[in-house]
Amino acid sequence: MTDHTPSDELTPDAAGPAVERLGARPAEGSRPADWNPRGPSVRRDPLAAYDDMRAHCPVALGASGAWTLFSHADVTRAARDDRTFSNAVSRYLQVPNGLDGPTHTAYRAVVERYFTPERMAAAEPALRRVATDLAGELAVPGPVDAVVLGSRFAMRAQCAWLGWPADLEDELLRWMVDNHAATRSRDPVRTGEVARRFDGIIRSLTDARRRAGTDAPDDVTTELVHDRVEGRPLTDEEIVSVLRNWTGGDLGSLALCAGIVLTYLAEHPDVQARVRSGVSDRELDAVLDEILRIDDPFVVNRRVTTEAVTVGGREIGVGERVFLNWTSANRDPAMFPDPDAFDPVGNAPYNLVWGFGKHVCPGRPLALLELRLLTRAVLAATTAVEPDPGRPRKRGLPPVGGFTAAPLRLR
Ligand code: HEM
Repeated sequence: MTDHTPSDELTPDAAGPAVERLGARPAEGSRPADWNPRGPSVRRDPLAAYDDMRAHCPVALGASGAWTLFSHADVTRAARDDRTFSNAVSRYLQVPNGLDGPTHTAYRAVVERYFTPERMAAAEPALRRVATDLAGELAVPGPVDAVVLGSRFAMRAQCAWLGWPADLEDELLRWMVDNHAATRSRDPVRTGEVARRFDGIIRSLTDARRRAGTDAPDDVTTELVHDRVEGRPLTDEEIVSVLRNWTGGDLGSLALCAGIVLTYLAEHPDVQARVRSGVSDRELDAVLDEILRIDDPFVVNRRVTTEAVTVGGREIGVGERVFLNWTSANRDPAMFPDPDAFDPVGNAPYNLVWGFGKHVCPGRPLALLELRLLTRAVLAATTAVEPDPGRPRKRGLPPVGGFTAAPLRLR
């Protein structure tokens, strides 16, 4: 997961119908802004707002001067052209997502070794136990919040995969809530504080393994502590950055994905019945990918231009910030004639849930394995997962996608 929380873009704003296109209002600097990514209509219904932007202003300048690309064609063009659209967007070290060129390739090769089919098969029994134990704790019949369930599962699964102690769960859950609040506050003091707190958690785990030497536990974290890049050991800072990436960002994404998937299955009893009737892992992955395509909780990633470029007739200067809006691109009628139509096989080749190009998500095998196991465990522990009209669903506020509350009923 890359840090997809562009805190500098989406300022809350005054009212106005449809998407607040701010033709009149100057963006930072002198150019008129096209829209307000944190405006009321985006907060009210982000999917409709992004669909509207893609239809009327697919390359849009935001209130803070950053551009957003909404169409499938423009997003894939930018993701493919990693020379013009650089990933070096942050002043913090981000391995590998903040890197470009051969440096990126070198670190990417390190990261990818942790997600091979053999590694996933080896990790599966422990992750399955986490899913079935958690499903066993559910009150059936009874209410559940799919995002709360997803957060707890993401936490336990990541700890099991990395070899982290289960008693870290509550501390990490608290951190996740504080991290979201800090990101939304856009207060650098608060975001700095939660980042340092997280680094402290990671360093306590990596330092303990270093001190333990050959007695260190045989797990992913120990392996990373001793891993190498370009013939030298990874530095502590690089290890912390990789682990921050694999946890800080992903825990939230997995929880959001669980919310979207279980809510979709509740709303579509036909799809739920199909999964319950028995589907292979490959078929279930295609179902999960398609559900996430229709309502992608992983909204945007950042780029910065290394040269002036024209996109959709708009001139974007050198050094400008550009957001790739995956949620919108995944609903582009140019690729998906009916964006809400469920077609796991037909839409798979154009699905951008996991990104595109050199920075495509290396964690997809693990994320899908975990979502598969959770979905199967919840369905196995119930006879039906249904909507719960008595309790309101809450959409994530930009820049967070998906739901922050997804109440369902289990039978
Ligand atoms: C839960 C659902 C997840 C979604 C929807 C997701 C989606 C994405 C997307 C769209 C990108 C591309 C970013 C870009 O182009 O800037 C990405 C990159 C990345 N993801 Fe994921 N991801 C998920 C889970 C994970 C997990 C569980 C891990 C690892 C444990 C992971 C590790 C990474 C890394 C390391 C990158 C950066 C790759 C690079 O820059 O080369 N992701 N992810």
